[in-house]
Amino acid sequence: MIVPKHVAIIMDGNGRWANKRKLPRSFGHREGVNALKRIVKYCGNEGLEILTVYAFSTENWQRPAKEVHYLLKLMEETFSIEINELIQQGVCIKILGDLSTLSAAHRRIWEAAEAKTQDNNRLYLNVAFNYGGRNEITNAARKIAQKVKSGGLSVEQITEEEFAKYLYTGDIADPDLIIRTGGEYRMSNFLLWQSAYSEWYFTDVLWPDFDVSEFKKALSCYSKRHRRYGRI
Ligand code: FPP
Repeated sequence: MIVPKHVAIIMDGNGRWANKRKLPRSFGHREGVNALKRIVKYCGNEGLEILTVYAFSTENWQRPAKEVHYLLKLMEETFSIEINELIQQGVCIKILGDLSTLSAAHRRIWEAAEAKTQDNNRLYLNVAFNYGGRNEITNAARKIAQKVKSGGLSVEQITEEEFAKYLYTGDIADPDLIIRTGGEYRMSNFLLWQSAYSEWYFTDVLWPDFDVSEFKKALSCYSKRHRRYGRI
């Protein structure tokens, strides 16, 4: 079976999972963390190299303050309490997103998670947090413009390869497969640049119910795709 090197996931459906059980949405998010732990463990064991997950978008700040607060607390807890487990599993964490607008306390948690896991290389786990694809591209354009203005780069040197270096993903390989759970069929501002040639897999399964057998279905579907990159 052809295994993708880089899988990205839009973890959608936590709220609906909770609604279906007449539980507060927060229960869905908590179960969502368990689903993520299952998939991280599986990827590490199966030799998948890179996993990128969409944890919190630039648009998610518009949710009710209580839910935003809960999500931030949950992620903070996950990445402090579970950090030793992640280190043991050889996971290297990288945050993709705009950390500059976060509180110093919150930024420190993400930076500590990155620093403590930086020497690991079994599984690269990228967490898209305060991430938006358009925000990422405009930020990159701004950085490049600054560099051109200061004489560090010429206009002719702005190639696709050069541009990509200024994205949050830097030199990380583009995702081969992007999975979206929760039955919606849209990109939601996720990896707009990097997904140019990614294969998409959509499933109605709500994220908290996503398990190894569902993940294997996505991998099996991917292995049957013929990637042509615009060729015939
Ligand atoms: C989408 O479900 C999910 C999110 C906005 C948050 C994703 C977060 C987690 C899975 C938990 C924490 C993650 C980490 C990295 C520790 P939704 O709320 O949009 O669900 P709905 O579409 O059913 O309302």
